[in-house]
Amino acid sequence: HWPDNNPLKEPNPKKHCFLFLSASLYNIMWHNKYPYLCRENACEKTSYMFLRKELAVRLANTMREVTLLPTNLQSQPSVKLVESWYSQSFEELLEYETRSPEDPRTLYDFLEILIKIQNRHNDVVPTMAQGVIEYKEKFGFDPFISSNVQYFLDRFYTNRISFRMLINQHTLLFGDTACLAQPKHIGSIDPACNVAEVVRDAYETAKMHCEQYYMTAPELKIGELNSKAPKKPIQVVYVPSHLFHMLFELFKNSMRATVELYENSSEGLPPVKAMVTLGKEDLSIKISDKGGGVPLRKIDRLFNYMYSTAPSPRLDPSQTAVPLAGFGYGLPITRLYARYFQGDLSLYSIEGFGTDAVIHLKALSSESFERLPVFNKSAWRHYQTGPEADDWSNPSSDPRDASTYKANR
Ligand SMILES: Nc1ncnc2c1ncn2[C@@H]1O[C@H](COP(=O)(O)OP(=O)(O)OP(=O)(O)O)[C@@H](O)[C@H]1O
Ligand SMILES: [Mg+2]
Repeated sequence: HWPDNNPLKEPNPKKHCFLFLSASLYNIMWHNKYPYLCRENACEKTSYMFLRKELAVRLANTMREVTLLPTNLQSQPSVKLVESWYSQSFEELLEYETRSPEDPRTLYDFLEILIKIQNRHNDVVPTMAQGVIEYKEKFGFDPFISSNVQYFLDRFYTNRISFRMLINQHTLLFGDTACLAQPKHIGSIDPACNVAEVVRDAYETAKMHCEQYYMTAPELKIGELNSKAPKKPIQVVYVPSHLFHMLFELFKNSMRATVELYENSSEGLPPVKAMVTLGKEDLSIKISDKGGGVPLRKIDRLFNYMYSTAPSPRLDPSQTAVPLAGFGYGLPITRLYARYFQGDLSLYSIEGFGTDAVIHLKALSSESFERLPVFNKSAWRHYQTGPEADDWSNPSSDPRDASTYKANR
């Protein structure tokens, strides 16, 4: 239920905690399975009634949070541009607040508007990244800002993943091309996703990019261990496009590290290994390479958006092969995808040897429910407090004086 006025104009963030429903893969599947099989109008209406509110709520949550970012970051042209996309989409969705699902025109228009919104938001990630670069070029690196940006972008991109997932579910189920491509899928969900197949697909695609750029690529060795049903292929209820995306990013990183380490060596490239394992609770996929690894000191910052964007990638239009590394968002975004359905991504690196990256997913669809950021008082408080002084000794400097990093710097 919307408050009387536009909730986005409400100045007090504590007054509004927009509540939304978190969906589990199990629920999405069984909730939508019926309309998928029979495609009765009633189900499209239910989906419409759910989405017209849910999508607006998710947009509103994120837009409130943007207003808590440091002013200097908010005022960067790219951040303003992204904000304008969100406002426009929000207003477009609000128009449906009073439109009846009984009017067939409504359902048709809604489908169109969802596609329009989806396309409008296509470039949100690189545009926000550009905003962070603009900020850094003008104001430099600041640990307080960086910690806020980290907190914000993790939440902002998770919100975006969820937003697109919901839109996709509707357009895939009720759009013109519904169900043609993947008849067994329920929207974007594959109820019997063969994990090793997705691993192989992602590897092949990464290999193609790698060969285009480096003229060579390491081989793949793949193993499977199904502790629940030995020798049976490992399957899971999941969104294959999410899984593909995560694996593709990990393969690109492993291939790049391997090829660059062995560039001038006479030995052949050591293969990249993938191990898919199913336990009672977890489905884990480990990607291992012998690409030389990363020192421990640098591991945390591989997930940091503000570090990652350090040397701004200048896209050269004359270049035909795309380099295997870009904005440095591969790992942080991969981890968000993994966490979105209650999984995670861990990196274990041994410098001088290589890296293991492990994607953990929930084995059961009933446990794969959405992990969503909530805009409430604790989130608000997060943006107000600065970093504390170090409470462990640091040989190279005195404990950091927190008073130098003021909230409104
Ligand atoms: N398997 C690996 N072996 C060695 N270094 C790695 C590995 N994976 C990641 N790294 C290091 O971590 C950095 C960050 O990785 P990440 O995937 O986030 O960004 P990127 O590859 O630089 O750019 P992109 O956004 O295109 O992925 C890489 O630049 C690389 O230095
Ligand atoms: Mg990468």
